[in-house]
Amino acid sequence: MRSPLLCYLLLLSLFQNSHGWRDFRPFRFIFFRFEKLYAKLERTMKIGQIEIEKPVILAPMEDVTDPSFRRLCKHYGADIVFTEFISSDGLIRHAVKSKRKLDVFDDERPVAIQIFGNQIEPMVEAAQMAEAAGPDFIDINYGCPAKKVAGKGAGSGLLCQPDLMEKITDAVVKAVRLPVTAKTRIGWDERSISILDTVRRLEGCGIQALSIHGRTRAQMYKGRADWSWIARAKEVATIPIIGNGDIWTAEDAKRMFDETGVDGVMIGRGAIGNPFLFREAKHLIQTGEHLPQATHRERVAVAIRHLEMSLERKGEKYGVLEMRRHYSTYLKGLPNVSKVRDYLVRENDPNLIVEALRRFEVECDAHLQNGTFQQFAQHLNDHSKRLVLSPPQAESDSTSSH
Ligand SMILES: Cc1cc2nc3c(=O)[nH]c(=O)nc-3n(C[C@H](O)[C@H](O)[C@H](O)COP(=O)(O)O)c2cc1C
Repeated sequence: MRSPLLCYLLLLSLFQNSHGWRDFRPFRFIFFRFEKLYAKLERTMKIGQIEIEKPVILAPMEDVTDPSFRRLCKHYGADIVFTEFISSDGLIRHAVKSKRKLDVFDDERPVAIQIFGNQIEPMVEAAQMAEAAGPDFIDINYGCPAKKVAGKGAGSGLLCQPDLMEKITDAVVKAVRLPVTAKTRIGWDERSISILDTVRRLEGCGIQALSIHGRTRAQMYKGRADWSWIARAKEVATIPIIGNGDIWTAEDAKRMFDETGVDGVMIGRGAIGNPFLFREAKHLIQTGEHLPQATHRERVAVAIRHLEMSLERKGEKYGVLEMRRHYSTYLKGLPNVSKVRDYLVRENDPNLIVEALRRFEVECDAHLQNGTFQQFAQHLNDHSKRLVLSPPQAESDSTSSH
């Protein structure tokens, strides 16, 4: 036996089934190092140059994951962030709104730009424009259920045209140097669950990871995400699989890793108004210990920081307007929040908004001191039913308490 590596492998196979071989002194150190390295490799997700152990990822969300929100999530521990989806047609027409969504910043890396469309050429051109904007990778949306997108054969609409989906993916992968990934749903409806076929087709095109939202297009955001299909997809996939759907707590994030074996988890609605979820999830996954939830002071501070960043990026008028949708989620569950929320969503002066938030913080302090914090806690349900911005089991609670 000339090769030391062959000797090592032979010894490994000889001793693998024998109890106590790990205790044989000369081998102990080597095997220990080997096992540690193997375990680390097994837990590490790789997309191009990016290598992260058990990443917790911010999902792409239209009108939510703009640079301000992405940076907040990054600050609280998101390992990778995604832009809002960007229309390939909008990009190639040089629509200002679409091109602005290409802005990515060094302090949020690694960041992916997500594009969508239903035609090969515009998607190729859009991917090249996205590449020029300097993200770490490019993601293709095959999951959006909205009529304006899926109805036109883009997003999840491409689940009904898998050959075209494959052609688009193949062309995009070939047209850019950056890694390409995709995000999809488990199928069009419950009678046509196609995720295993989608995995096979897309990995054949050379994508480097696939995010799977465990719902069908027909479900939109209703019902529960079916993680069992994510687990099955992981079993057959040769590329990293990122699990998505119904991660509302740190426990959910850990459970998604444990139950499905995915390489990364992706959080969407659970992060809205709660960027602290990344910190909590990462801590639980890494240490097995729970962090205390964010205090009312932290939540008010983040709302103010978000407003400041929004003003910086969008100017006073749009900065103030676009923050309105966020207050109720940041302040959810705090005492008498409906009163301050009603004020915040009407006020146009950012200085007065900050003053109101600071006054509210003092009121919460007083409730805490007097022991009346829980008694006056209010859970608002300001969002459209279509979006369902609360976990399935709490939907009825949040509706009834408002
Ligand atoms: C407001 C909103 C906007 C969304 N926009 C996008 C998008 O631009 N691209 C995309 O791939 N998915 C989008 N999604 C879907 C999310 O990325 C995610 O797949 C879905 O919300 C399920 O994950 P969750 O249960 O953690 O929210 C959006 C979801 C919401 C609620």
